[in-house]
Amino acid sequence: MSQSEATLKFEPLLVREEGPVLVVTINRPEALNALNEPVLIALESVLSWIGTEKASHLRAVILTGAGEKAFVAGADIKQFENFQPRDATAFARRGQELFQRIEKMNLPVIAAVNGFALGGGLELALACDFIYAAENAKFGLPECTLGIMPGYGGTVRLPRRVGPARAREMAFSGAMISAQEALQMGLVNRVLPQAQLLATAMETAMAIVNRAAPVAVGAIKESIHHGMQLNEEKAHELEARLFGDLFATLDAREGTRAFVEKRKPKFQGK
Ligand code: COA
Repeated sequence: MSQSEATLKFEPLLVREEGPVLVVTINRPEALNALNEPVLIALESVLSWIGTEKASHLRAVILTGAGEKAFVAGADIKQFENFQPRDATAFARRGQELFQRIEKMNLPVIAAVNGFALGGGLELALACDFIYAAENAKFGLPECTLGIMPGYGGTVRLPRRVGPARAREMAFSGAMISAQEALQMGLVNRVLPQAQLLATAMETAMAIVNRAAPVAVGAIKESIHHGMQLNEEKAHELEARLFGDLFATLDAREGTRAFVEKRKPKFQGK
């Protein structure tokens, strides 16, 4: 391990800091990294930790699954057996809230999908800012084949990402699509050989970290995320407000001054 790497304790996740990038690996390969209670609790803890002063040096997050077979094969199906409607609603709300926290986090989050991304796994990847997929990755919403439906935002985010007709086809059939099909429909940004997946996600994360002011990335993330939920007029108003707010930051002053002085800016995230 290099000096700039540190491993943090958030079992059953593997959480590794590589300089300013946090790599979060869901580590339950024996159950294809299915989301059970301990995984959800650990994800909630990592997100809370990212919001603290101790993590203020972080600039990007990569989310992936352990092994080469699965990113996340969904919510843990075994827990559904004795669910009553009220339990199921609470289960959905809890996962939705967790995924919304990922979406609203002011750091860029890249999903590196290294295998199956099914049900809650696809929903988790969709809550990230964008997806890179390994060539063997498979995506699907198989809930209907269990007599249930997506409950962690799949019917909300997938139609917004790929259009309602493609989302219906996937969610009605429960069929899996390949990484190449996912690329064609704009669900993933890049398809890579498995061996290059994490390194490429890291390169992109570092390109963002090295070029972009953190306050700018946070504002862009909010403008796109929030703006997608507004009509165009309101979305433009939001963009103008966020654009204005950035001029109260040190980074905006530094960025424009550095350009004029023909030097590389030194951003502080303030
Ligand atoms: N919840 C709980 N356990 C799961 C799981 C899930 N979502 N997905 C896989 N597993 C477990 C299997 O039960 C199996 O455990 P076991 O060895 O104790 O029997 C282990 O992971 C390996 O899975 P297996 O089914 O043997 O692998 P496979 O290569 O034959 O099939 C899948 C892979 C992904 C096609 C298959 O596991 C599957 O269909 N999983 C469920 C996907 C799903 O419906 N997700 C949505 C849930 S709402």
